[in-house]
Amino acid sequence: MLKHESIEINIGFMMVLILLTISIGGLVQIVPLFFQETTTQPVKGLEPYGPLELTGRDIYIREGCYVCHSQMVRPFRAETERYGHYSLAGEYVYDRPFQWGSKRTGPDLHRVGGRYSDEWHRVHLINPRDVVPESIMPGYPWLETNMLDGDDIQAKMRGLRKLGSPYTDEQIANAPAALEGKSELDAMIAYLQGLGTHVKTRR
Ligand code: HEC
Repeated sequence: MLKHESIEINIGFMMVLILLTISIGGLVQIVPLFFQETTTQPVKGLEPYGPLELTGRDIYIREGCYVCHSQMVRPFRAETERYGHYSLAGEYVYDRPFQWGSKRTGPDLHRVGGRYSDEWHRVHLINPRDVVPESIMPGYPWLETNMLDGDDIQAKMRGLRKLGSPYTDEQIANAPAALEGKSELDAMIAYLQGLGTHVKTRR
């Protein structure tokens, strides 16, 4: 009883004890995640992004698509009915940085791959209102005319390999050729069409 009182009347001491308690609680929750296979290993069938998808992903980040779109289907019925199977940690192991997002002005995009044709995306990205009349998404017409040059793709892939994406020398050597003659729009569509398609549980 007396001991507790000495904590309550000594704010500095109480702060130290609170910090200690929270730190231990946090570590107990977080540290195991670094060692669990379901959070550290890629899901079966997951490949690192190809050169075109990887470029599309960088454009997605550059254009700020994440400001309106999340990439994480939560494990709730309303979400899985609408988007498909909820997202798994192992699907993101090659995502650096993650595109989880926290705001959904538009729909979640984690399972958008294969939902529409390439042509739909082409029209939609240039002017969303041509396919969804009530859409408030901005158009990105410059993606169509900006051509890719492939200058930095090998450096990017080598960097990602250092961080754990298993690219082969051959894949890196062939990367610039995969971008030849492609526009930023092609890259973006390749990226979107691959999203969330690696898990075979989609309904
Ligand atoms: C200002 C917010 C906003 C921004 C920024 C934005 N979007 Fe959207 N997006 C929306 C809204 C709202 C919709 C739903 C209406 C529609 O389909 O156009 C949507 C729909 C979509 C869809 C169709 C999803 C589905 O399941 O039907 C795709 C794909 C998409 N956006 C991709 C992108 C990409 C790629 C970018 C960046 C280049 C982007 N969006 C930027 C608001 C936004």
